[in-house]
Amino acid sequence: MSSPPRLRDAGPGPTILGIGAALPEQLVTNAALEERLDTSDEWIVRRTGIRERRYLRASETLADLAADACAAALADASLDGADVDHVIIATITADRLTPGLAPAVAARVGAAHAGVIDINAACAGFLYGLDQAAALIESGRARRVLVCGAEALSRITDHNDRATAVLFGDGAGAAVVGEGVHGRGIGSFVYGYDHELTDTLFAERHGGTLQMAGQQVYRHAVARMTEASREVLALNGVDASEIDYFVAHQANARIVTAVAEALHVPLEKVSFNVEWTANTSAASIPLALAAAQRDGKLHPGSLVGMVAFGAGFVWAAGITRWKDSPTTPTRSS
Ligand code: ACO
Repeated sequence: MSSPPRLRDAGPGPTILGIGAALPEQLVTNAALEERLDTSDEWIVRRTGIRERRYLRASETLADLAADACAAALADASLDGADVDHVIIATITADRLTPGLAPAVAARVGAAHAGVIDINAACAGFLYGLDQAAALIESGRARRVLVCGAEALSRITDHNDRATAVLFGDGAGAAVVGEGVHGRGIGSFVYGYDHELTDTLFAERHGGTLQMAGQQVYRHAVARMTEASREVLALNGVDASEIDYFVAHQANARIVTAVAEALHVPLEKVSFNVEWTANTSAASIPLALAAAQRDGKLHPGSLVGMVAFGAGFVWAAGITRWKDSPTTPTRSS
């Protein structure tokens, strides 16, 4: 195998062209949870940093929410669904056991000739999708790929268990990946897994809700995300001090803080979008990127570090230079 592509390799390369997000309308505040659980806003904010989350209503579909995020990402890239060669959806909570979400989402955004696939790597799913999209672009097998992380975790949450009910939310975030004009955006990624610890975080297929040994997950999340971040920086020849913005999986603000501090990334450069979304598994990183762009925290050329950890355990880390304009900016070119 030839050496992996580095962020600073010369010449064009895959990059994020557009980013989009969609959250359900139904808002669930900590105060609302206080009314039916033995918990408090004070405990939830102090132990998790979460203030509110969104839930899909029973009549709403995750496919519609994912399509809204994809449409927003396409608009941000000034592209149409017809410009997309593949739709990759990372999710553990598709509306049905089968089919996956991708066919419905592709149809809704008009990606009429796209390849459509769902992937399940839990909270790391979006990073897997982003790397695979980059590989498709790099190899010349696709010109544009939509990558979406979409979750309806409220549908696999035990709403009577205060230890997990306060942690999860629903949402979708998406990125359009294509070749950029100003050189490579998306660098090399690193991965890891630990099947031995699979029983610390899982949901069973039949009527299952998320079961989690919270403290164990916490410790491993901090350790593995810190290690993976260091590895991905080294692999791409980037020093932590060069990172302009850092998005760690938005599970708990204390976990994010611990990882950022271990890496010596100043907290003002770190996403705490978990405050407004809670943990949305595969949707967490694209939601955080979209929020950061909206809030003016990302600029063309900004170096963005990303790392995720979740069920499996499965983890991944990546790095991207923020965002380029498309090589062919006209719609349906
Ligand atoms: N409100 C009030 N008290 C609570 C609540 C609540 N919602 N939940 C737990 N407690 C209580 C516990 O019962 C316990 O009480 P006790 O001391 O009387 O026994 C006390 O608070 C402390 O509980 P801990 O579990 O020790 O609390 P901790 O500070 O560890 O926080 C938490 C728990 C938030 C779950 C934390 O362990 C955590 O964030 N874990 C990792 C979660 C994670 O990263 N998941 C990522 C992957 S999952 C995914 O992304 C799909």
